[in-house]
Amino acid sequence: MVRKRTSIHGEWSSRWAFILAATGSAVGLGNIWKFPYIAGENGGGAFVLVYLLCIAVIGVPIMMAEIMIGRRGRQSPVNTMYNLGIEAGSTPHWKWLGWLGVAAGFLILSYYSVIAGWALNYVLETASGTFTGLKAEAVSSIFGSFVSNPNALLFWHTLFMGMTMFIVARGVSNGLEKAVRFLMPSLFILLLIMVGYALNTGEFVRGLSFLFEPNFETLLYKHEAGGQIVLNTYGEKIFTLEYVLIAMGHAFFTLSLGMGAIMIYGSYLPKKVSIAKTTFMIAGADTLVALLAGMAIFPIVFANQLDPGAGPGLIFKTLPLAFGNMPFGTLFGTLFFILLVFAAWSSSISLIEPAVAWLVENKGMKRLKASAIMGVSCWLAGLLTVFSFNAWEKFYPLNFWIFKNKTFFDVLDYITANIMLPLGGLAIAIFSVWIMTRESSADELEMRQTDKSYNVWYFMTRYVTPLAVVYIFWNVI
Ligand code: PHE
Repeated sequence: MVRKRTSIHGEWSSRWAFILAATGSAVGLGNIWKFPYIAGENGGGAFVLVYLLCIAVIGVPIMMAEIMIGRRGRQSPVNTMYNLGIEAGSTPHWKWLGWLGVAAGFLILSYYSVIAGWALNYVLETASGTFTGLKAEAVSSIFGSFVSNPNALLFWHTLFMGMTMFIVARGVSNGLEKAVRFLMPSLFILLLIMVGYALNTGEFVRGLSFLFEPNFETLLYKHEAGGQIVLNTYGEKIFTLEYVLIAMGHAFFTLSLGMGAIMIYGSYLPKKVSIAKTTFMIAGADTLVALLAGMAIFPIVFANQLDPGAGPGLIFKTLPLAFGNMPFGTLFGTLFFILLVFAAWSSSISLIEPAVAWLVENKGMKRLKASAIMGVSCWLAGLLTVFSFNAWEKFYPLNFWIFKNKTFFDVLDYITANIMLPLGGLAIAIFSVWIMTRESSADELEMRQTDKSYNVWYFMTRYVTPLAVVYIFWNVI
């Protein structure tokens, strides 16, 4: 069976264009903002180890499956799943998997844009020399007063959402490609410079051992942000896989998996490109950036007696300290936050692309109109996050079960990263090996059914990956 589907939204100009765009989607706030702070909250080493395992065992096979499905379907995830479901002799209801992804992308972008707005604000602050010569306390209090001001957050959130929609309206495959080509390498070099600075803080070794020396106590037992173990009324430690779920959820989040972003990028991928090789490059680059960010941040944390469990503000309380006290700090700092904004930008467009592509395909809308509609609604949803850091700081909308003591922002983050993405990823894995035929998956992966690499992927995706996800879910939920 030979098929010749092409995407109506265009195609990447080459394999490299795809790798860059998908890396642009993967590398973002997840690597530089989220990874360090959740690693910090969950005790470091053991958490990082599980995260790395999840990337290898769950992330890589699912990424291959997701790109493969995307390229086979060549449409927005909703329509792709609908068509491939029918084609495989299963049901058109697989489209709901597409919808789950659209919803997840929408919810993630709503808070992602607010945090990216923080980075925008920090471009300005660093450029104007605000942090020069400051001590840890002053830097922390600058962050505190910034987030407690809803108007400031609103302003930057609005700007960032506007930037995102500007690119999405023009079409993802033209324009974006060029920007990512030199921004990603620059970000990488700046991170190396930061790690170089961290080498001289006097606490480099301590930072490294925090990140890489596994201590399973904190990972497996209920603890406070920062690592202190919580005891039950009998004075016993409380066993939980919740933090393993968070590590797994982050593997999905950081690789942009489980919600159709990689699927839709795959739908613009020319035929004849090896999906396995590109997957390894994307996952490798993404992981490297996260680890470098951790290696830059934790030495600064320990050298200044800061709290590794400081939460979402962690990078904004640590990195400016370095920029304020290193040679050329203003220059490097400004550049760094600019690049962080770009990294977030190239991720945010992929969050909303599945929804916009659907509006274009099914409602016959122009990209401009579709982007405007999505942008405005997502901006509105973002208000929940804006107020989570000030007026509603102590408001816990769903105060029970796994949502206890969580603000709107916390709930959105938890539901999307730790539940919706793994669920979507699980369904993608199941679809690719239990529903699609071996013939079509091998064909689309550009492999033969007898290839060893094909069979490794098949086995992982058929058994190991789904069982791992289900096991972790079942334990926590
Ligand atoms: N991977 C992005 C990051 O790490 C976030 C993202 C998640 C983007 C899901 C698209 C889809 O910042």
